[in-house]
Amino acid sequence: MEKKVTKIGVMTSGGDSPGMNAAIRAVVRTALFHKIEVFGIMQGYTGLVHDEIVEMDSRSVANIIQRGGTILKTSRCMEFMEYEGRKKAFENLQKRGIDGLVIIGGDGSFRGAQIFSNEFNIPCIGLPGTIDKDIAGTDYTIGFDTAVNTAVEAIDKIRDTAHAHDRLFLVEVMGRDAGYIALHSGIATGAENILIPERKTNINEIISSLEEKEKRKKLVNVIIVAEGDEFGGANELHHYIKERLPNQEVRVCILGHIQRGGSPSCMDRLLASRMGYHAVESLMVGRHNVFIGILNNKINYMPLNEAVKQKQVISDEWMKMVKILAT
Ligand code: F6P
Repeated sequence: MEKKVTKIGVMTSGGDSPGMNAAIRAVVRTALFHKIEVFGIMQGYTGLVHDEIVEMDSRSVANIIQRGGTILKTSRCMEFMEYEGRKKAFENLQKRGIDGLVIIGGDGSFRGAQIFSNEFNIPCIGLPGTIDKDIAGTDYTIGFDTAVNTAVEAIDKIRDTAHAHDRLFLVEVMGRDAGYIALHSGIATGAENILIPERKTNINEIISSLEEKEKRKKLVNVIIVAEGDEFGGANELHHYIKERLPNQEVRVCILGHIQRGGSPSCMDRLLASRMGYHAVESLMVGRHNVFIGILNNKINYMPLNEAVKQKQVISDEWMKMVKILAT
């Protein structure tokens, strides 16, 4: 028989994403409903190692569903990568009798959870909280929808000024290892080209396409560049284009961390609420060391050790569509 969970910890880890607060709220309120005590772990694994752990009640999560960032704060913790750090973390859980953890974060955070649960036999549930949407086993991650809508709003504005001046704009969006924000925001704003880390950048093709467009007087062009594009981002591309096409008017706009903040969209609030609710239910029924995704609008459970090995894959069909629609 599974041991009944009586006290759980919840934390946010890695890069923050809009909707993390909604997920914390759902975890806390679902746990309290089931008479499970809940502790908030501050600053992700850093708070676990340094014993920054606070008990939460229903009021601790009042008025946060609409707020970006994370009330628990977050970090990327180096100490947790070492066994000694993880041991300290486990002792801090043990002394409070915490017997389950919910970790809201990206694949790096899941990797930490997986190692930790194997070493100390502590049940962990992961919730995919990242604007990058790069985790397999879920159609969406908490924060992606908001981030991509923020990018779309900004790119629409850029296109207005690009049109007024007949200019080429290179807009850099976030995504060190993943091109989803670039892909979705690029398609949604009618971008002329989209450069992502998952595909090789054919610079000669970009140059000849710009030359060809100039010939047919298509002078307004917006190229979306993911920050992790192999070429090195929008600034690098700018230098290269200016070398090859000195007369081309080019401007660069880097959207940066604006994409991580802001009030979560309705979709992210719903996703976070559903996932948070199911995280607690999972701990209660002994479904341990999984992360909770949503596939085809149904809750999907994927073992953490599989989740850390896989990435969402961008199909060639998407890239073909980008080309056809951007002519
Ligand atoms: O959280 C994901 C992400 O926003 C990536 O898209 C980006 O490359 C990275 O985090 C930036 O991290 P930091 O804020 O630590 O510079």
